[in-house]
Amino acid sequence: PDIITVQELANRMAARAGEVVKALFRMGVMATITQSIDADTAELVATEFGHRIRRVSEADVEQGLEGEADTEEALEPRPPVVTIMGHVDHGKTSLLDALRKTDVAGREAGGITQHIGAYMIQIPTGDRVTFIDTPGHEAFTAMRARGASVTDMVVLVVAADDGVMPQTVEAIKHAQAAQVPMIVAVNKIDKPGVNLDRVRQELLQHEVVVESLGGDVQEIQVSALKGTNLDKLLEAIILQAEILDLKANPNRAAEGTVIESKLDKGRGPVATVLVQKGTLNQGDIVVAGAEWGRVRAIIDDMGIPLTGAEPSEPVEILGLTGVPSAGETFVAVEDETRAREITEFRQRKAREKVAAAAGAARGTLNDMLA
Ligand code: GTP
Ligand code: MG
Repeated sequence: PDIITVQELANRMAARAGEVVKALFRMGVMATITQSIDADTAELVATEFGHRIRRVSEADVEQGLEGEADTEEALEPRPPVVTIMGHVDHGKTSLLDALRKTDVAGREAGGITQHIGAYMIQIPTGDRVTFIDTPGHEAFTAMRARGASVTDMVVLVVAADDGVMPQTVEAIKHAQAAQVPMIVAVNKIDKPGVNLDRVRQELLQHEVVVESLGGDVQEIQVSALKGTNLDKLLEAIILQAEILDLKANPNRAAEGTVIESKLDKGRGPVATVLVQKGTLNQGDIVVAGAEWGRVRAIIDDMGIPLTGAEPSEPVEILGLTGVPSAGETFVAVEDETRAREITEFRQRKAREKVAAAAGAARGTLNDMLA
């Protein structure tokens, strides 16, 4: 389907419509400025003009959910969101656990400390950092495919005694594809006979050039087991965050991404979400994927109930009518009517997709029987 006029595309790229027409012509597409072109063509043109494309879903476009752009003045600094990735058994979970113990916020666990897939800590300087437990590489890919970018940087955990392994390479590729900076945490340095140069050389082969080899990737040697150099790792994260100059507008309707979700026996649908824009407040009506609900409770990673959550804060929310999928975006909307409209639209789209897939499958079967 045609989604955008040549004029509109030109406007969004701040390019002359005539130039866009010419670019289309070179690609073999004849279009006037008032004509519409499809998403793939628009993407090709935009790429040619040097733009990076973020596709919002059709539903978002039709429902006007794309969201208003924030003005520079409205933006305020926000904590970095860090994803820990690496090969199996290289110590991701151990490192996350060790880092969590460095939290100086002095919060006492409120209720039952849930193991949620994300948490935020405060370091002695007062800076805060949000960590996301690798949702598995597959989930990461799925999130990226949905256009959800949740992480600002990746901490690549490489066990010093094992070196770069297949999933290390996968993680590197994910970070490179998502264009997020990486920090290498060489873990298990407490083990005897580790060869750091070998690890660096192996990383080099995958275009990860650490500082000691003249590159710009910070490398920190840690031991999750002994708690060695965790402060250095946190410093490296803060330094990287400063370079990225991370900002968001906390004074608007909340938007973010579902990190994980489950159906809890007592509490009903529970979603762990990362707020990325605006402030999520108790009582807000939110749409998450094809589900919606009034936010009955917001709970932090220590099990403490909150009245609101700001950008980069990972929280659990209760009150949804169903369980949204990880990687789906959520957005606070003005009222229930609007929430119903959007979710009905999305559910209809999903049904159509299933029907179309079933139709295609029948076709194949018929072909085979013919
Ligand atoms: P998966 O989640 O299975 O991919 O593994 P992981 O990367 O989360 O590794 P995990 O933290 O479970 O650690 C794997 C093993 O390595 C455990 O037996 C840890 O005790 C051990 N380990 C983790 N960090 C260190 C470390 O710094 N030094 C030593 N000696 N062992 C460590
Ligand atoms: Mg683990």
